[in-house]
Amino acid sequence: KRLVILISGRGSNMEAIVRAQIPGATVAAVISNRPDAAGLRFAQQHGIATEVVDHKAFPTRDAFDKMLAERIDHYRPDLVVLAGFMRILGEAFVRRYEGRMMNIHPSLLPAFPGLHTHERAIAEGCRVHGATVHFVTPALDHGPIIVQAAVPVLPEDTPETLAARVLREEHRIYPQAIRWFVEGRISLTPEGRVVVAQAR
Ligand code: GRF
Repeated sequence: KRLVILISGRGSNMEAIVRAQIPGATVAAVISNRPDAAGLRFAQQHGIATEVVDHKAFPTRDAFDKMLAERIDHYRPDLVVLAGFMRILGEAFVRRYEGRMMNIHPSLLPAFPGLHTHERAIAEGCRVHGATVHFVTPALDHGPIIVQAAVPVLPEDTPETLAARVLREEHRIYPQAIRWFVEGRISLTPEGRVVVAQAR
């Protein structure tokens, strides 16, 4: 299966996915909307094709989405992986990759969609927090949940210490979810819930 990974910055989730060397999965390209995304260097150093589709160069979201889809499709991916990709995508774009585009979000969805999740979890006094890998649907941070990981929130936590604890789990569950997809073990119920079949 061919993967195209979309990033906007550091790219540590992308790095974890590349390092996982998932059997049957090839990272065909890494695409960033920011020319200065640190993750691009790692991809290049690992012989992975990289591209930049700079959202600032497009007059409308639609124009950006169209070019992004064109560049993604060039690599004929089976799965599009959003890994710290910080642009909201339009409905047409999302529909185009329905059932074959995943995202990772740093909270236990449906709690805390959107930004500043660690800060908000601490502010609410949550005792547990975590990360979610989900299929992307037009509603932001609301697609069918594939896998989650929970971590404790400790009394002395700052958003930074909590983010680091969550990030370690992200690096574990994102390759896991992709592995399930590549193994053909993920299906959707009529209600739109994810079922993961046992490994054979
Ligand atoms: C991750 O915490 C991801 O869940 C969030 O942004 C961060 C991206 O980190 N949406 P990286 O670019 O994968 O290092």
